[in-house]
Amino acid sequence: MHWHMHNVDALSWLSEQTTAAFDALVTDPPYSSGGLHAKDRVKDSANNKYLNTPTLYPEFAGENRDQFSYLRWSTLWLAEAYRVLRAGAPVLLFSDWRQLPTMTTALQAAGFVWRGVVAWDKTEANRPQKGRFRQQSEFVVWGSKGPWHDNAGPTYPGVYRVAVNAGGRKLHTTGKPLPLMEALVKVCPPGTVLDPFAGSATTGVAAVRSGRRFVGCEREEAYYEIACERLSKAL
Ligand SMILES: C[S@@+](CC[C@H](N)C(=O)[O-])C[C@H]1O[C@@H](n2cnc3c(N)ncnc32)[C@H](O)[C@@H]1O
Repeated sequence: MHWHMHNVDALSWLSEQTTAAFDALVTDPPYSSGGLHAKDRVKDSANNKYLNTPTLYPEFAGENRDQFSYLRWSTLWLAEAYRVLRAGAPVLLFSDWRQLPTMTTALQAAGFVWRGVVAWDKTEANRPQKGRFRQQSEFVVWGSKGPWHDNAGPTYPGVYRVAVNAGGRKLHTTGKPLPLMEALVKVCPPGTVLDPFAGSATTGVAAVRSGRRFVGCEREEAYYEIACERLSKAL
């Protein structure tokens, strides 16, 4: 089997895993973003918060923490992820502009070396704002557990320009495009890629199609089912 999905809470599952069992962490956790005020943070994830047009995507959890608790929770799960990764493992963490300082802090608080930020340019199709800058980018905070694993491979881009629906209609409210994930997993060593917040398992599909193995967690049953279905057809 090239992949395993678990319908579980990531933090409790991670705390039960063997030390040094995975070769890379590539994940897109809930951003708990999209709202400056308490009333915004309690909106539905699918139908009100991140999408201008309501859709029929299932709801998903973890979107209502304030800044302080988001930092605390991110540090907790990243510390468990640190323990279960092998030495040298790369870490790629998605974030948006609001949570970028929090995620770079949590990454380092958990013990990882923070090495940089890659920009995902989502193209001009996104979020026009009259008289202001377009919210056109999301970010990949990257680092490693100790020294970086590869000093001889190719140089990878620092900016990826990929439309949100490149590679087909997304299967999750905040799903990432498959071509983007396929480009990003190239930086991982051969072995097992871990994504504790798999959603529709775009990371997983990219990982197994690249010849790597994949282990993912997803708490929402609806997305867990979508992920398993998608992974079973990935190869
Ligand atoms: C931003 S989405 C990931 C989307 C994914 N990158 C894709 O392309 O489909 C984050 C996912 O994490 C899940 N999640 C939130 N809290 C969780 C937790 N504590 N344990 C496991 N999954 C969780 C949510 O249900 C959601 O599907």
